[in-house]
Amino acid sequence: MIRPATPEDSAAVVDLVVAAEMFSADDAWFVEGMMADYFDANEDDGHVCLIDDEGGPLGVAYYRPKLAADRVWDLTMIAVRPTRQGQGRGAAMLRRVEEDLRARGQRLLLIETSASPQYDRTRAFYVKCGYEEEARVRDYWAAGDDLVVFRKALNAY
Ligand SMILES: CC(C)(COP(=O)(O)OP(=O)(O)OC[C@H]1O[C@@H](n2cnc3c(N)ncnc32)[C@H](O)[C@@H]1OP(=O)(O)O)[C@@H](O)C(=O)NCCC(=O)NCCS
Repeated sequence: MIRPATPEDSAAVVDLVVAAEMFSADDAWFVEGMMADYFDANEDDGHVCLIDDEGGPLGVAYYRPKLAADRVWDLTMIAVRPTRQGQGRGAAMLRRVEEDLRARGQRLLLIETSASPQYDRTRAFYVKCGYEEEARVRDYWAAGDDLVVFRKALNAY
């Protein structure tokens, strides 16, 4: 079941994004802060955090509107617990995100990731989900680690 996150999910979200190696254990504080800010204020400002729950959180997707653009959104986080990856859960969450945004007349969904070999399968996942590589920024994350921006148009506009 894909459902909105609640404050009780925060610890499990941190645990699963670290397990999925989206963040290192040393950077877990960043996700803790992100979840705290979400429930403090950002949810009211339009951010959305969804949980894929089957007897506990197995996946998370977080998306937020770009402030200065017309109906453009960023998917800032998507992760599935490693033992449950490759079973269609990530694709189902991403479809849910797109359905939500389409239903609200939103235009574009952007996803930032890395060009490094560690993210080869992640980039393949976005292509499989119908995203196109739109831009690269060389040496963005670190020297030799480029930013890749994927884009999908959600509605005819
Ligand atoms: C990327 C991720 C969210 C995809 O979710 P998922 O549930 O594993 O993916 P799905 O089962 O819906 O789709 C499978 C496709 O995704 C890709 N994929 C990416 N990572 C994969 C993994 N670890 N295992 C299996 N497939 C993976 C493959 O292209 C696969 O297609 P294939 O079965 O034809 O090879 C998930 O693998 C994950 O959490 N990865 C680690 C964290 C991460 O990279 N997050 C994004 C940061 S930008």
